[in-house]
Amino acid sequence: MSDNTFDQSVTLAMTGASGAPYGLRLLQQLVAANCQVVLLLSDAAKIVLATEVDIQLPDSLEDTQAFLIKRFNAKTDQIKLHSKYDWFSTPASGSSSPKKMVICPCSMGTLSSIRHGASNNLIERAADVILKERGQLIIAWRESPLSTIHLENMLGLSKMGVTMMPLAPGFYHKPTEINELIDFMVARVLDHLQIKQTLVLPWMQ
Ligand SMILES: Cc1cc2nc3c(=O)[nH]c(=O)nc-3n(C[C@H](O)[C@H](O)[C@H](O)COP(=O)(O)O)c2cc1C
Repeated sequence: MSDNTFDQSVTLAMTGASGAPYGLRLLQQLVAANCQVVLLLSDAAKIVLATEVDIQLPDSLEDTQAFLIKRFNAKTDQIKLHSKYDWFSTPASGSSSPKKMVICPCSMGTLSSIRHGASNNLIERAADVILKERGQLIIAWRESPLSTIHLENMLGLSKMGVTMMPLAPGFYHKPTEINELIDFMVARVLDHLQIKQTLVLPWMQ
């Protein structure tokens, strides 16, 4: 019998910005830290996963969830995948939503929708719930250069207490491999979630 108790629940959304390896590594680390992960994938995220890391997700939700549980050696129920219009899922309501949510990678489209409270799909609704419930929302975004619209949206979200985290790793740890750049950012996200990580040491240690 498997032990299905988890230390905490975190919602992880992956959208169609470049940077799928960051989201996958974060998912792996959250699973390793015994978090239950409520996972939300936009349609564009699936295209980016296929493009950037050659992962073709199965068509059905059940098969995709099973695929990810196996890939990340997760416990039964540790990764809960929901469809984009599942308004009856836990992240859709303030009474049941995890109190922490990360969007990694986050597209400018989703960022804009959250800024304006659109709630047109479950990722946008889950973020809206976090904002209204005064939970923790981390947006790990990628785009370059940034338009005035992007910048204004980011400022608006930052003023609401959202942690705006550019997917822009530093180089002071002298990385020689791509994985080190990925881990740099994933470590920063985990630090902000207050989840213990051993990927990257704190500054000057
Ligand atoms: C391979 C690929 C890379 C992309 N990279 C970015 C990006 O870095 N930032 C961004 O805002 N959009 C990017 N896009 C465009 C978004 O996927 C597109 O705007 C999409 O509508 C976002 O939808 P979503 O927010 O629901 O995932 C990319 C698209 C593809 C196919």
